[in-house]
Amino acid sequence: MKLHIARDIAEWARIAADTVMETVAGKPRPVFILPTGSTPLPLYAELVRRHAAGVSFAHVTTFNLDEYIGLPAGHPEGYRAFMKKNLFDHIDIPEGQWHIPDGLAADPDGAAARYDAALEAAGGADLAVLGVGHNGHIGFNEPGTPANSRTHVAELSEKTRRANARFFSSIDEVPSRALTLGLGNILSARRILLMARGADKADIIREVLRGPVTTLVPGSLLKQHADVTVVLDEAAAAGIQ
Ligand code: GLP
Repeated sequence: MKLHIARDIAEWARIAADTVMETVAGKPRPVFILPTGSTPLPLYAELVRRHAAGVSFAHVTTFNLDEYIGLPAGHPEGYRAFMKKNLFDHIDIPEGQWHIPDGLAADPDGAAARYDAALEAAGGADLAVLGVGHNGHIGFNEPGTPANSRTHVAELSEKTRRANARFFSSIDEVPSRALTLGLGNILSARRILLMARGADKADIIREVLRGPVTTLVPGSLLKQHADVTVVLDEAAAAGIQ
């Protein structure tokens, strides 16, 4: 595992973007798993900046980690809207090459199976870019999710819904289910980039990086992967230094 502790947010974004660029530049048709949440925002801003400076992402295919089930189409907190606003509207990945789980499918289980098959057909992920929830969740793989899980419908824990309520007008508006890539899909990626920022992530980063490997802390399973890069700021790294 490669561990980077950045001195400031600019350095954090630069290291994360450099890691992404190794895969963008190193493969003819790279496939990424991408996260939402507040964690990746400085990375996406840096990738947009690099695109403006001449970097092309036109050969890249992406699969987002997850999507809420049942948010109205175009809802600003839906992950399709999030990704367009923060990344896809500002870089040159053709629309047919980026994928978000269909949270409005009449048959969510069928949508999960189709999403899984599409990632498989693309050859799996070259790089999975990840944040981590306060309970160690990765994507929406909550504690207790099996390590070999594939794309599935996840019930969101109370803790996760409360954490995400900050983006909605009340917790009642936060969906209780989501589609998510499984831990098996994520652990099958050829490389993993785990990112965290802020003091509120210090405890879970200590558990993930220094605690036992257990499905009760999904992020801890990443330690079983052979090629993981971790990018933290000093606040998120406070518990491991
Ligand atoms: C969300 C997302 C995850 C994300 C995590 C942390 O619920 N489903 O993919 O990594 O929670 O979010 P944040 O980056 O806002 O702390």
